[in-house]
Amino acid sequence: FAPRVPISPLNLDTPLDYDRQIAQLETVKSGSRRPLTLTEKILYSHLYTSPEHSWALDEIRRGETLLHLRPDRVACHDATATMALLQFISAGLPKVQIPTTVHSDHLVVSRDGAEEDLKRGRHEHREVYAFLSSAAKKYGIGWWKPGAGIIHTTIFENYAFPGGLIIGTDSHTPNAGGMGMLGIGVGGSDAVDAMAGMPWELMCPKVVGVRLTGSLNGWASTKDIICKLAGILTVSGGKGRVIEFFGPGTQTLGATAMATVCNMSAEIGSTSCIFPYSESMSRYLTATKRADIARLASGYKDVLLTADEGSENHYDEVIEIDLDTLEPHINGPFTPDLSHPLSQLKEAVSKSDWPVEVSHAMVGSCTNSSYEDLLKTSQLIQQAHSAGLPHVKTSFMVSPGSEDIRATAEAEGILQTIRDAGAVVLSTTCGPCVGQWDRTDVDVKGRERNTVVSSFNRNFVARHDGNPETCSFVTSPEMVTAFAYAGRIDFNPVTDSIPVAGSSQELRFTAPTSVELPTAFTTGEDLYQAPVQNASHLSVTIDPKSDRLQLLDPFQPWVPGSTNSMPILVKVKGKCTTDHISPAGPWYKYRGHLENISNNMLLAASNAFLPSDSKHLGHTIHPLDSHVDLIHEVARDLRGRGVKWCIIGDWNYGEGSSREHAALEPRFLGGVAVIARSFARIHETNLKKQGMLPLTFVEAGDYDRIRSGDRVTLLGVEEGEMKPGKEVTLQVETEAGEVWRAALQHSFSEGQLRWLRAGSALNHIKQTILG
Ligand code: F3S
Repeated sequence: FAPRVPISPLNLDTPLDYDRQIAQLETVKSGSRRPLTLTEKILYSHLYTSPEHSWALDEIRRGETLLHLRPDRVACHDATATMALLQFISAGLPKVQIPTTVHSDHLVVSRDGAEEDLKRGRHEHREVYAFLSSAAKKYGIGWWKPGAGIIHTTIFENYAFPGGLIIGTDSHTPNAGGMGMLGIGVGGSDAVDAMAGMPWELMCPKVVGVRLTGSLNGWASTKDIICKLAGILTVSGGKGRVIEFFGPGTQTLGATAMATVCNMSAEIGSTSCIFPYSESMSRYLTATKRADIARLASGYKDVLLTADEGSENHYDEVIEIDLDTLEPHINGPFTPDLSHPLSQLKEAVSKSDWPVEVSHAMVGSCTNSSYEDLLKTSQLIQQAHSAGLPHVKTSFMVSPGSEDIRATAEAEGILQTIRDAGAVVLSTTCGPCVGQWDRTDVDVKGRERNTVVSSFNRNFVARHDGNPETCSFVTSPEMVTAFAYAGRIDFNPVTDSIPVAGSSQELRFTAPTSVELPTAFTTGEDLYQAPVQNASHLSVTIDPKSDRLQLLDPFQPWVPGSTNSMPILVKVKGKCTTDHISPAGPWYKYRGHLENISNNMLLAASNAFLPSDSKHLGHTIHPLDSHVDLIHEVARDLRGRGVKWCIIGDWNYGEGSSREHAALEPRFLGGVAVIARSFARIHETNLKKQGMLPLTFVEAGDYDRIRSGDRVTLLGVEEGEMKPGKEVTLQVETEAGEVWRAALQHSFSEGQLRWLRAGSALNHIKQTILG
């Protein structure tokens, strides 16, 4: 008899039922003795079964089988929750069917420091927060108010448990893997499926095993594991794969440090990332008031929470990393897979045109804002202080990940040490990590070239400050702090010293010590609104005149012949992340208003039909009269004329985030298809969910044959013709009247084709649940 333990102290009604998971796993294995990876154990123990469908291990093929899953919980942040909740509302259900939370971390703009920024943010976004609060009450959702913490940190502190499955409308949801929970980033409409109690679909991922041996020492931290992996696998190398760590090195790492690795695995495009159960997870659970979960989990360690013995031979690829010899890494600029081991950075800088001087250093984000991270930062500050350097050389900003971390770091004097060094302590929100930064230290509008260094995870062009000339590097908090004192990106704290003005002394840092957890966390302000029971009488009001919130009108069902002779809105060239398709920063405001946010569509994209200078970013040639205009203006004009259009995309189109606006906007403005060399997984699904056709060239070289003025017809996409796994045909008619054809692939399943015909997945849910 196992005691009844809830999945979280905040979800007392939902038991953590490992026995049910094991029973489910045994059913799927149906006697098979093949050793399972940890990823498989978690996924197969969360399969959605019904009287019509059961699962058998022999029939599941990684990379081929579409799994139907029942996650343990769903999380959304405030920038994606508005649209997810608007979709949930339009599905007409009384309340969510699985534990769901909303986290208010993305909207607050960083400028003056925690207190002022939060005050201003709460006022500026009061309409959105009032909507989130009222919708959360009505539909049984937990709401974390602004200042409570960054989504992934709050999940880690309150909800993550070994062996669980969480989906979140943010690409860094894999953060939960540091607690042995599989976290997967999804679009809002996937979240709505799960919130509605429908099965959530995922292509069964392949599994890359990463064997860790040895233990970290010196300046190396877990951030360097993922920065090194990003260099090995590149930004698309993890696509369709879960990164699963194993080996003795895993047992030497702290839980939040492992979360750092899993968090940034999003930068290699992986489906998720996970560590096996370890004592550090147990210590962390106990420190965060979940000793009951720690006790229960330790009893299931071998059977459910670690990979089976012998499963190393069943990974799709194995990579070895020796922690004993791991160097600090600094990745960037402009892409997180441009990886520089510290010993090679000086040379890389000397051969580059990156400004050597660092203009701004930042510690924080969901990747590196734990107690341990802040403590390491303060340890280095104390060393500098003792050597006679009271202040950092660059501008410096530090943000704690949650209110409890803030309160603990404040109580222990860590934040005061950081402030005394001249740093600004920001609120426990995303801030500059997501472009919410009112930056004044450089001329952002004038595109002043400069270098910033942060402990964040993502450094795409213009991500932090909207300035495409900001060269952004990501690394560990301790390296960031060292750079903040040196003021140069070619500084090596292992070999270099920093002169102390007015003294013959020099500062030579020694590597900080890892302290995994405080003696006890200090509880901060309670900024949580619990779900309300029996809330059917409550209402959610949206002002029809609001420019921030707008109820959704359902998209029109599929119209036969939609793909005949479509003009090409834009042929995107090179990198096109969701930040290029639907930029963040000031646009966050409109995340709940589809009409208004569509004015940012593809603003940062480069068009192969136009010069590739920054003046032409976001522009295209109008296919009907050849004038050059903003892409979204042309799309709107075509929609007004009843002309359906398509986009041509390059490699890994839509990489980066789960931002579903990047799929909603083209659909809303009259797009029918995106034909690319390849897609990022979440974006491809998001396009399908909104009733669009994501298609890929069978021959990647056919992308090069597309010319300005071409018209495109898709053959084989009508109902009855289009089948899972069956190619469709692209027919191109050139301006000169020549016609050529090319084969295209799609990844629609039978079920997903029903979304296409219904006009969107949401239309299909409504038809299924409400009839
Ligand atoms: Fe926020 Fe940046 Fe993480 S946007 S959720 S802190 S990646």
